[in-house]
Amino acid sequence: MDYSFDQVIDRRATPSLKWTRYQGRDVLPMWVADMDFRSPPEVIEALKDLANHGIFGYPVPPDGLVEAVQAHMQQMYGWEVRAEWIIWIPGVVTGLNIACRAIAGPGDQVAVFTPIYPPFLSAPGHWSQEVLGVPLARDSGRYCLDLDRFKKAITPRTKLVLLCNPHNPVGRSFARQELEDFAKICLEAGIVICSDEVHCDLILDQIRHVPIASIDTQVQDQTITLMAPSKTFNIPGLGCAMAIIPNGRLRRRFCDAKAGIVPHVNLFGYQAALAAYRYGEPWRQTLLAYLRSNRDLLMQGISQIKGLAMDHVEATYLAWIDARALGLPDPAAFFEQAGVGLSDGADFDGPGFVRLNFGCPRSILTEAIRRIRLAVQRL
Ligand SMILES: Cc1ncc(COP(=O)(O)O)c(C=O)c1O
Repeated sequence: MDYSFDQVIDRRATPSLKWTRYQGRDVLPMWVADMDFRSPPEVIEALKDLANHGIFGYPVPPDGLVEAVQAHMQQMYGWEVRAEWIIWIPGVVTGLNIACRAIAGPGDQVAVFTPIYPPFLSAPGHWSQEVLGVPLARDSGRYCLDLDRFKKAITPRTKLVLLCNPHNPVGRSFARQELEDFAKICLEAGIVICSDEVHCDLILDQIRHVPIASIDTQVQDQTITLMAPSKTFNIPGLGCAMAIIPNGRLRRRFCDAKAGIVPHVNLFGYQAALAAYRYGEPWRQTLLAYLRSNRDLLMQGISQIKGLAMDHVEATYLAWIDARALGLPDPAAFFEQAGVGLSDGADFDGPGFVRLNFGCPRSILTEAIRRIRLAVQRL
């Protein structure tokens, strides 16, 4: 089926965070992580049905949603998820913050691997906790978890680690062995793992995502997994995510920490999630093929620009571009001047880098690469 990923849709007609930033300016928005594609047709139809019904009261998860999630986890990852482990939440960042509040106290440390999606760096501070940043290592030209460094860095005050897998911004999908070694350290030190796996259904390479909680029952018992259909099916504006927490004690702490301050999941979010998990697979497969081609085009384009470097992106639609060799004080501002709106690596604890979102029609990506190349050539 042709899902028309090539079609350029004018998003300036809707109040889009990504597009309104550059309203009235000739800047291609390639920053915040949503895609410029229409969601699967089945998702759109399900939302229309709901809108046509016309009553928008408080919802419960629709019949079949939990079963659809369970089937998805089983088929994709061989992970058997029990219904009672699933806690619905309105967002993954909400989940990161609840996890900090639930697991660590004021003055405790929360470990993160840097560079990292900025809410990982800000969440602990919301609860008077300290961020323990552990830089990712480079091995054979790619980023990996620096477990020696992690082991040396943790202290008795380190109560929680926020893992991002697949990793935003470096695009790694961590291998089973890396995750096993990492989990072993956490188990020994009694550190709870909160694993943000929101990008897990966007694996571009021929590798299988491993939910860290699926490694074994011990790891499962010490892990909060955050997932959502939002990134994959391009529905982040609908606010529907889940925390999967097998350990009953951890689950209670998580629920207590969110009580009274976290709103219901949106009615439309539930409806979209159900349609996405039930019917979205052919669309997802087509999307992955399109994103793969975009990634390859970008990789080829960036590799031909002297002063820029980009790693192979195993997963996500985000590229982490090293602009340090250009010696610019603010690469994101420089590329914005050149008509390409990127995320500033400094916000991820990666100064000198920029993050580019390639979840867009190929014509836009091609133009962005052209603008980047011309800007660097003019330097
Ligand atoms: C790793 C990661 N976690 C969470 C989010 C945001 O999730 P939500 O919108 O559900 O809070 C993003 C969005 O870019 C992300 O990349």
